[in-house]
Amino acid sequence: MINFTLFVVDDEETIRDGMATVLAPQYRVHAFDNAEAALEAIPQHRPDLILLDIGLPGMNGVEALRAIREKHPSILVIMITAYEDVQTVIEAMKLGAYDYVIKPIQMESLELSIGNALETIRLRREVQALQEQCLKDNLPFFIGESHIIQDVIALIKLVAQSPDTPILILGETGTGKELIAKAVHYRSPNFKGPMVTMNCASIPGELLESELFGYEKGAFTGASASGKRGLVEEARNGSLFLDEVGDLSLSAQAKLLRFLEEGEFYRVGGLKKIRVNTRVISATNRDLEAMMETGDFRRDLYYRLGVIRVAVPSLNQRRDDILPLARFFLDGFSRKFNKDVSDFTAEAVKALHHQEWTGNIRELRNAVERAVLIGQGQQISVQDLGLHIDTVPTLERGPGIWNLPAIPEAGIDIEDLEKAVVRHYLESAMEMAGGNESGAARLLKLNHHTFRYRLKKLREDSGVNK
Ligand SMILES: Nc1ncnc2c1ncn2[C@@H]1O[C@H](COP(=O)(O)OP(=O)(O)OP(=O)(O)O)[C@@H](O)[C@H]1O
Ligand SMILES: [Mg+2]
Repeated sequence: MINFTLFVVDDEETIRDGMATVLAPQYRVHAFDNAEAALEAIPQHRPDLILLDIGLPGMNGVEALRAIREKHPSILVIMITAYEDVQTVIEAMKLGAYDYVIKPIQMESLELSIGNALETIRLRREVQALQEQCLKDNLPFFIGESHIIQDVIALIKLVAQSPDTPILILGETGTGKELIAKAVHYRSPNFKGPMVTMNCASIPGELLESELFGYEKGAFTGASASGKRGLVEEARNGSLFLDEVGDLSLSAQAKLLRFLEEGEFYRVGGLKKIRVNTRVISATNRDLEAMMETGDFRRDLYYRLGVIRVAVPSLNQRRDDILPLARFFLDGFSRKFNKDVSDFTAEAVKALHHQEWTGNIRELRNAVERAVLIGQGQQISVQDLGLHIDTVPTLERGPGIWNLPAIPEAGIDIEDLEKAVVRHYLESAMEMAGGNESGAARLLKLNHHTFRYRLKKLREDSGVNK
């Protein structure tokens, strides 16, 4: 629950004390008998709401309101006025007072007005927090057009709905596991709760237990005197993201498993069992199956964490996403660095598409960031991206790299030439792939079906021509 701070400003002692007494059990209340003192105390107490009498000695309520609106526009003000002050009330409302109540004060209507004002504040804060979170996480910008990632997104949307289901995200480095974890959290009914991340790889084994479960005061030397809540407690009613979970030591795995099985734990040095409701999302780029074979990862923990397993495909398995992602990053970085870069050259597009992105999306993002920083022109070139052009044989780059002869006087049979080129590559691909058709098809970026068709046609043609 949010704790609200209220100021009551009224020069009539009975009214001031009456209001303060009624409101004190629910809110932090500070009372003032003049506007100057109240204004002065704002930076110290940072009130959410001010109940402000209009007829005050010295600076009157309307002047005070004007000052508050100017300097602290997020503070709401409810004016308190005698009935005959209607004109002033109108003026105050025009100046941005939230509401007004008339003396003699009916506590019910005052409480109603306060309730409305505080609800407005609560909603404002909520909207602000969500906006900040969205901006921070780039959540609306989850790029994924390929079928394979669309399937992943559909699965995430589905499982995010059930806030207790543990989810294990598996994938190579830089494939977007953390982004997916955030997507799960913010799509779950617990999205207003916290998302707490623990990087299992960066915490030394002996500290892990106290990080996760917290400790009681004096639990160990160096423990803070007041004790400390662990990350599991911090993640109450939200999500606990265990990143690099494959890096947990076996003893840490055992402790985590116990918590997952029982939903309860003890703080280090504590005697009281603590129960916490939180969704555990974990991620790793390690091969957990292989680690289970070698005994480095507990099988029971694997099944506990991975009630739902999400396998994030590598970027090379979803080449359709490369360009949309590259353009998305280009857009972001050109704005960030205030550069007028609008696109990639045709050559750069090809290079991006054919590159083996072993570092996946992170590597692509870094390449684009660097290119935007160092690029001079309006378009990003292959050189800006630091990619190699020779990995990209393409006819569009002119016949130079093919060492093709010039057209002889007698002309050239282009169709024959075309067939010869195709035959050359089909046969070389088969050779390179050791006679494996799907391997050869991949080398030529054809699907298996098309490759077979062309090979068959070539063989038929060759037969006819022989
Ligand atoms: N689908 C996507 N759309 C936009 N940006 C993405 C997408 N996937 C990943 N990214 C960006 O790529 C970078 C790497 O992603 P992330 O950190 O989630 O990867 P990871 O799988 O957790 O990597 P690691 O295993 O190295 O921790 C981040 O900057 C992230 O914002
Ligand atoms: Mg990560």
